[in-house]
Amino acid sequence: MSGILVTGANGKTGSEAVRRLRAAGARVRAMVRSAAKGEALRATGAEVVVADLTTPATIGPALEGMDHVLLVTSPSPDQVAVQHNLIEAAMRGPRRHVVKVSAVGTGPRSPFALGRWHAEIEAELVASGMGWTFLRPQSYMQNLLMAAPTIQTEGKLYAPMRDGRTPLVDVRDVAAVAAACVLEPGHEGMTYDVTGGEAVSYAEVAAHIGRAIGKPVTYVDVPPAAARAGMLQAGLPDWLADDLLVLYGIAAAGKSRGPTTVVRDVGGKDPVTIAEFARDHAAAFRGG
Ligand SMILES: NC(=O)c1ccc[n+]([C@@H]2O[C@H](COP(=O)([O-])OP(=O)(O)OC[C@H]3O[C@@H](n4cnc5c(N)ncnc54)[C@H](OP(=O)(O)O)[C@@H]3O)[C@@H](O)[C@H]2O)c1
Repeated sequence: MSGILVTGANGKTGSEAVRRLRAAGARVRAMVRSAAKGEALRATGAEVVVADLTTPATIGPALEGMDHVLLVTSPSPDQVAVQHNLIEAAMRGPRRHVVKVSAVGTGPRSPFALGRWHAEIEAELVASGMGWTFLRPQSYMQNLLMAAPTIQTEGKLYAPMRDGRTPLVDVRDVAAVAAACVLEPGHEGMTYDVTGGEAVSYAEVAAHIGRAIGKPVTYVDVPPAAARAGMLQAGLPDWLADDLLVLYGIAAAGKSRGPTTVVRDVGGKDPVTIAEFARDHAAAFRGG
């Protein structure tokens, strides 16, 4: 039975992909950076391997017997070097298929650093001779959970989005698409923009969260400079605050990538709606 190595298996995308692949009965090896981070993954029936992509000696053993790799790591300035180490190791041995998670807007002239870094890695994969599939998701609905504290205490959702609309995607749908790309033939050489099914404004998002928790939630537009200060105060590094402002700015200007049908066509399911997401996470938004 062919095996699938999932890197970043403790993260948002990786953990959902492991669950999805295991539910389909696939042989999955979940890569984590410490044994403790593998406990919940082991409970799904996945093998767990402790490795770190900054330490090349740990990668070869993790790849042994694996025909597919779902390549996902944290958004970070070192991601080109980190993912290069995986690509270099995966090129040894049998020809493998790498499904790489990038982001909507990836390209060598992307206005945000993450998009340019993802483009560098995608180019390396294309040149590698391995099979490749690129998933470029829109921003995750799960990022809204970072707003839970102000929703709980003030009933307010703050962002510099104006009335821009964007088709936020649920990470469970990204996992469904990723799973299909490794379990079914026909996805090598494909690039998929993975979005939710509907473009929503943050005023609508706030209203859905309010309905789910049974009390009003209001969207409050924030000037970009104030949003940046808030992100830095919350501990985000400068480059990430700048990237997020660019992404908010694209949405605020009405230039977000519109909805695609990838979740339905490739993932084989209806995309999670913002109303469903809000209901599924009502406890986190309600707090207490
Ligand atoms: N979140 C979004 O809205 C969004 C939207 C579009 C695209 N994306 C893309 O999706 C990717 C993943 O995002 P995410 O939100 O799932 O990230 P995440 O939750 O931060 O997960 C990243 C995982 O990568 C692991 N990792 C980091 N460095 C590693 C290394 N050197 N060796 C092995 N594992 C390493 C982390 O391990 P630890 O658990 O040990 O820290 C973590 O489990 C990113 O490339 C991002 O650009 C995200």
